Amino acid sequence: MARVLSGIQPSGTLHIGNYFGMMKPMIEFQDKSDLFCFIVNYHAMTSLHERDELKKNTINAAIDFLTLGLDPDKCYFWVQSDIPEVAELSWILSCHTSMGLLERSHSYKDKTSKGIVPTAGLFTYPVLMAADILLFNADLVPVGKDQKQHLEITRDIAERFNNTYGEVFVLPEPYISEELAVIPGIDGQKMSKSYGNTIDIFDSEDVLKKKIMKIVTDSTPVEDPKDPDKCNVFALYKLFAPADKLEYTKERYLKGGTGYGQFKKELVELVSEYFKPYREKRKLYESDPEEVRRILKKGAEKTRAVAMKTLEKVREATGIKY
Ligand code: ADP
Ligand code: TRP
Repeated sequence: MARVLSGIQPSGTLHIGNYFGMMKPMIEFQDKSDLFCFIVNYHAMTSLHERDELKKNTINAAIDFLTLGLDPDKCYFWVQSDIPEVAELSWILSCHTSMGLLERSHSYKDKTSKGIVPTAGLFTYPVLMAADILLFNADLVPVGKDQKQHLEITRDIAERFNNTYGEVFVLPEPYISEELAVIPGIDGQKMSKSYGNTIDIFDSEDVLKKKIMKIVTDSTPVEDPKDPDKCNVFALYKLFAPADKLEYTKERYLKGGTGYGQFKKELVELVSEYFKPYREKRKLYESDPEEVRRILKKGAEKTRAVAMKTLEKVREATGIKY
């Protein structure tokens, strides 16, 4: 059975881009793979330096996963910092990573151009991510398209390491579903916490409505035909609508006579219905954060045994174990 692994940063509130791009595929993987799913709080520290915010986001990300169906008995589920072995592996890998490889990182350039302080941690972010993946011998890593280069960097590091010391690491493959690759936000750019254009999974009904009504569309008059494939509303609509409804809506776009306002109203309903069953469940976890911490600590214990085994191999292969 393939080992599937992915992590998400607790750097803000999770949105529907995160849900369809990463969380939902991960939750589906728990029944058909050996699944490793975690919350990467060390990575979030590259952009978040507020103690209470980091704590709150970490617990909230865990609550979101549990609420949306991740079952900690069917997978490995933990918080990155509960497994200190990853920091040790990250150091060892950093000694086998050329500066040039990291200097070519798009993500580093994007983030610094957006005003994130260029710390050493931000620069070596891909090395820590490689450690996350290699520590657990992952075969497949489901992520959005923006993470593809990070996977290439991971493979480069692993290959170079294996060439030096023998076959220690498994080379992971990215798993990117093309149709879910980039989910647009309300301004039509990639939906992202850092662009302030998100629709959050658990936005209240009011906020949801306001945000959807603000989605950017062109100015085609109500009566004219519209191109669904160029419409930000439709791009989200198709994530939520069942096949028959989707077909019908597509026809209404092409025929004309329906305005974007109407499509937006229908989208509000679809999104709201979709997440409704989870709202009550979320409240239960929210009211008992101690139980969530207990689940995470137990998950870390189970996962740590796997990490220690790989690290021992690395220590032996490199001569750190003397
Ligand atoms: P953000 O851009 O909001 O900071 P992250 O970079 O933390 O999101 O992404 C977490 C995961 O969710 C990654 O696997 C990423 O590829 C996926 N993801 C984020 N935004 C989108 C999007 N708009 N469409 C598809 N997947 C996304
Ligand atoms: N860099 C990823 C992101 O921003 C998060 C991440 C950290 C990750 N470690 C990982 C994803 C390991 C997959 C595997 O989304």
